[in-house]
Amino acid sequence: MSDQEFDVLVIGAGPGGYVCAIRCAQLGMKVGLVEKNPRLGGTCLNVGCIPSKALLHSTEIYHELTHGAKAHGIVVKGMSHDLSALMNRKDKVVDQLGKGVSSLVKAKGVAVLKGTARLLGDGQVEVTESEGKSQVVRAKEVILATGSKPTELPFLPFDGKVVVNSDHGIALKEVPKKLVVIGGGAIGLELGCVWSRLGAEVTVVEFLPEICPQLDPEVAKSARKILEKQGLAFMLSTKVSSAKVTQTRATLTLEGPKGESQLSADRVLVSVGRGPCSDGLGLEEIGVQFDERNRVAVNEVFQTNLPGVRAIGDLIHGPMLAHKAEEDGVACAEILAGQAGHVDYSMVPGVIYVDPEIANVGLSETMAKERGISVRCGSFPLAANGRALATGCTDGLVKVVADQQTDALLGVQVVARSASELIASAVAHMEYGGSAEDLARTIHAHPTLSESLKEAALSADGRGLHSL
Ligand code: FAD
Ligand code: NAI
Repeated sequence: MSDQEFDVLVIGAGPGGYVCAIRCAQLGMKVGLVEKNPRLGGTCLNVGCIPSKALLHSTEIYHELTHGAKAHGIVVKGMSHDLSALMNRKDKVVDQLGKGVSSLVKAKGVAVLKGTARLLGDGQVEVTESEGKSQVVRAKEVILATGSKPTELPFLPFDGKVVVNSDHGIALKEVPKKLVVIGGGAIGLELGCVWSRLGAEVTVVEFLPEICPQLDPEVAKSARKILEKQGLAFMLSTKVSSAKVTQTRATLTLEGPKGESQLSADRVLVSVGRGPCSDGLGLEEIGVQFDERNRVAVNEVFQTNLPGVRAIGDLIHGPMLAHKAEEDGVACAEILAGQAGHVDYSMVPGVIYVDPEIANVGLSETMAKERGISVRCGSFPLAANGRALATGCTDGLVKVVADQQTDALLGVQVVARSASELIASAVAHMEYGGSAEDLARTIHAHPTLSESLKEAALSADGRGLHSL
């Protein structure tokens, strides 16, 4: 096989693509990984999960010191922040992790091809470097992992100054005075909190009657109330219908429950979802089929309609999350090696990293009922948990949803500091077919926030020990 020939060519080095390439190499395949961005890691590492979590953590420390220290008997005077230092730290984290991914991929024997890929058909892929030099490489299997991009509102195009998307929103050079966030989903809440903590007046405009539709309404409402207490304002059931944008401001026309109104701000963050990114890949030309949401259509083994072309991650159906993309990548590689590869999208946990964090897995009570499943539910407030009290993080709750007949654990929702870590044990219980009783009988260390999971499971059976 020449340098230009591969068993597998993965296009896109995000968490889906680079993990898939590593797994293919582990399974003995000759793998090439094409990436157009100078740094590997995709959206997640460059402009997504990692930089946003770095900013969330820095601003959480700042918020805790300015708002929470006094309650602990800590006197803080003359606190301020240095935005450029905060951004530099975030950039260093991204850079360090980027170098880590590059070394990892190389050490695993994956050949990295820097450039933009375009499919020519019959296993041939043109890779064009930034200077315009191109080469054609061949592969028995091509795996598309080109991810997603922010969705624009037709009447409010991104200009990177006044109207921004998350790529800009993680790198603003100054704190906006007034920030309007359109879309109260993961990006809107996370970046809304970052800028609010740094002093911006933030209003989140959400089209649906409540934030976080993946949660039961009372859980979502309690999360929203906590964020309101922290200073975020929400306009629910509200649609932005038009906008006037100047060099320095935007004025939005809103249609809400009380009729039409206007909202003006020096920055507008549009975070109304992301769409698949297949621009310039040549997919239409070679006849790859798309689904109703313009994602690449694949079957259960990630095959497109064309032989030798598969797709994974944000580019296809399923939750648009880094860990889902990674699991797709592993499963796809294992299928290519003749093994059984499968990802159960109903077991993918989701976390929004505000404070307290909002995490969920599986079905909410509402979703279960919509599917005709009878359920019994239990919940437990963090305010009744000893560790939460000791550490001053009593905002939040845990809710457990179990099948009425079989007691199988169907879903868990957690609003708590460290919910991102707490949800892992719920996923494990569900993955192994556990019941609410199994969770209730699992010994959790005391005092930990995780005891709230056990208590919520106990209360699903009316046996809560530490709740009324
Ligand atoms: P991507 O990560 O998008 O990678 C695709 C890669 O393909 C990119 O590097 C791109 O440059 C490359 N590419 C595209 N076209 C070509 C081409 N023609 N030739 C060569 N290369 C190409 N998810 C979480 O699970 N947790 C989080 O906390 C989280 N936070 C997020 C925060 C933000 C602000 C955003 C925007 C997203 C966040 N996500 C988070 C979502 C997560 O980033 C994505 O789900 C994940 O990156 C998808 O991985 P992927 O490999 O499918 O695609
Ligand atoms: P999202 O799908 O999470 O939320 C979009 C929100 O915008 C929804 O609540 C929706 O009802 C609302 N909306 C849609 N159109 C609207 C309109 N015209 N006016 C007002 N509201 C409108 O999308 P988001 O936040 O852009 O994130 C994109 C993807 O990135 C998500 O799928 C998410 O999975 C991923 N992500 C994950 C994170 C995490 O795991 N912590 C963090 C950030 C992003």
